[in-house]
Amino acid sequence: MQNITVIGGGTMGNGIAHVFAQNGFDVTLVDVASSALDKALATIAKNLDRQIAKGALTEADKTATLNRIHPMTDLKEGVSGADLVVEAATENVSLKLKIFSDMDEFAPAGAVLATNTSSISITKIAAATKRPSQVIGMHFMNPVPVMKLVEVIRGYATSDEVTEAIMGLSRGLGKIPVEVNDYPGFVANRILMPMINEAIYTLYEGVSGVEEIDTVMKLGMAHPMGPLQLADFIGLDVCLAILRVLQDGFGNPKYAPCPLLVNMVTAGKLGAKSGEGFYTYTPGSKDLVVAERFR
Ligand code: NAI
Repeated sequence: MQNITVIGGGTMGNGIAHVFAQNGFDVTLVDVASSALDKALATIAKNLDRQIAKGALTEADKTATLNRIHPMTDLKEGVSGADLVVEAATENVSLKLKIFSDMDEFAPAGAVLATNTSSISITKIAAATKRPSQVIGMHFMNPVPVMKLVEVIRGYATSDEVTEAIMGLSRGLGKIPVEVNDYPGFVANRILMPMINEAIYTLYEGVSGVEEIDTVMKLGMAHPMGPLQLADFIGLDVCLAILRVLQDGFGNPKYAPCPLLVNMVTAGKLGAKSGEGFYTYTPGSKDLVVAERFR
């Protein structure tokens, strides 16, 4: 596999394109919005500069990496020469089903079609194609250039050959792949989201405050970030959507989202990206300030 196409140039897509290009792959980066492509390339350049500042990369490496990335807005053209497509478009079921059905039509018959979805069933996405044995989950973590894990998710029909190829490819990117099966939330979010939900319940029931809950988990469990801060970072709307996937997928009331989380999302308090969640976020400031409502 040499020719990689990444669909979606947002938070995850630009990181995935960066990592493949830095490791010598030819990358076609497709996004419907040309502004997203410009932003993606600027972000990749900035992140490469950060690696240069740390002495991990040279200016020549940066130029070579950027030269391997070819931005494009047309999906049909973008996947036509791909050995592997990694889809990282917006998390929306109908959008992903359409992208996979289009990719199935336009990508070479031998190409593997991977998705970076954090919560949608790989089996369902695969069913939108005529090549379900070549569809797989490749779940990178944010920020992609930094985080080592790739959760490699086998759909119901994913073949052993494709799984092995993606495991090997992930190792070649300097990542550590872990193979898991396709059930709601896979492994990462199945364990993470109930923990975040429980932290929100702990706050909701008045057991303790925002800073206190995060401090217990940071100092007591050696987590680099407390669960409420992490929820803000991921996006409270994203957390809620994943909890709904767990709740629907297992039909078990233990996954019911905390009413406080539901209220916050309804009120538009989505965490860092909206400026307020459990903490408030001021552009240019790294200080972590508990939102007024929770003080
Ligand atoms: P994002 O909103 O930052 O980027 C999505 C991009 O997809 C946008 O640039 C949008 O213009 C583009 N897009 C929408 N429709 C498209 C189409 N038809 N063709 C091509 N591009 C299209 O989203 P983000 O956060 O990068 O998420 C992407 C995927 O990665 C989602 O499936 C999400 O669940 C998953 N993910 C996100 C993580 C995160 O921390 N943000 C972590 C792990 C997985």
